[in-house]
Amino acid sequence: MDSMSLISLLADGQFHSGSALGSALGVSRTAVWKALAVLPEYGLELETVKGKGYRLSCPVQLLDQGVILHGIEPSIRNRLSLTLLSVVGSTNSELMRLGEANEFSVLLAEMQTSGRGRRGREWVSPFGKNVYLSMAFGLPGGPEVLAGLSLVVGLSLAKVLSGHTSKSLKLKWPNDVMIDGRKLAGVLVELRGEATTAWSVVLGVGLNYDMTEDSAKGIDQPWASLRNFSSVGRNELIAELIQQLVVDLDQFRHSGFSGFRARWNDLDFFAGEQVGVVGQGIVGRSLGVDALGNLVIDTVSGKQTVNAGEVSVRARGA
Ligand code: BTN
Repeated sequence: MDSMSLISLLADGQFHSGSALGSALGVSRTAVWKALAVLPEYGLELETVKGKGYRLSCPVQLLDQGVILHGIEPSIRNRLSLTLLSVVGSTNSELMRLGEANEFSVLLAEMQTSGRGRRGREWVSPFGKNVYLSMAFGLPGGPEVLAGLSLVVGLSLAKVLSGHTSKSLKLKWPNDVMIDGRKLAGVLVELRGEATTAWSVVLGVGLNYDMTEDSAKGIDQPWASLRNFSSVGRNELIAELIQQLVVDLDQFRHSGFSGFRARWNDLDFFAGEQVGVVGQGIVGRSLGVDALGNLVIDTVSGKQTVNAGEVSVRARGA
């Protein structure tokens, strides 16, 4: 029996008797009992009450392929492939391995055991709680086009999220999505191969949708969870995000970052503030981004531009 079928039956957080679970899955009560023993591996807490059966301490909203596909316009849906996994090391790594199955290949997982953030950090990825999404696609052009790409993904996220919360969202260069001064989502862009005429790109989005204090213990920076600001469903949100990503990536592939620049600068978390670029000794006032998505800093020795690469920007004194 596959544990996801069992988790789907328990996802509602209601009590289910061993025999009801067994008959729904076509297995014995003993087989159910054995299968329930794996739930802690997914971080799921089970309550057992005599005479009532089993229930999850917290209901889970599982990923639903039907709901996600239904939420995407047919003209965009036709250009996608969508794969849902229960557990994977990293959706980005898995998609790097699998490659593109359609113009845009999307991979989602309920849980990552080795979720990866920028600059070698871990991305905390508990089961059934958040959004771990990777998308693979081709991108024509040389290395210069990559700088703006991850900023565009931040904009796609901000656009979708702003439709579901009254709180203002900001973008911390290059692509952290911030709400209430805390990080809600991050973006990791990776290349699959050396470009000759086109890049093969895998972009990964990690969004804290329903992150709990307990799971978040491993996060080493101030974090936020969307559920505290919005009631949007996880699958509906994912559908909107995939659609917005395709719309924005189409524009980006056609005309680059320049058309996004004003939108990005409007949401700049550090606008006009004194910032320092970690490890590069550049300090000054943030002037937002240029037409390629590079950060422009007004320093004592004039304007300097910083390429997204592996750098991190902090408020001075932070
Ligand atoms: C960041 O450090 O801000 C980037 C976080 C990116 C996390 C996402 S989750 C889906 C995809 N798979 C990964 O291993 N990482 C990205």
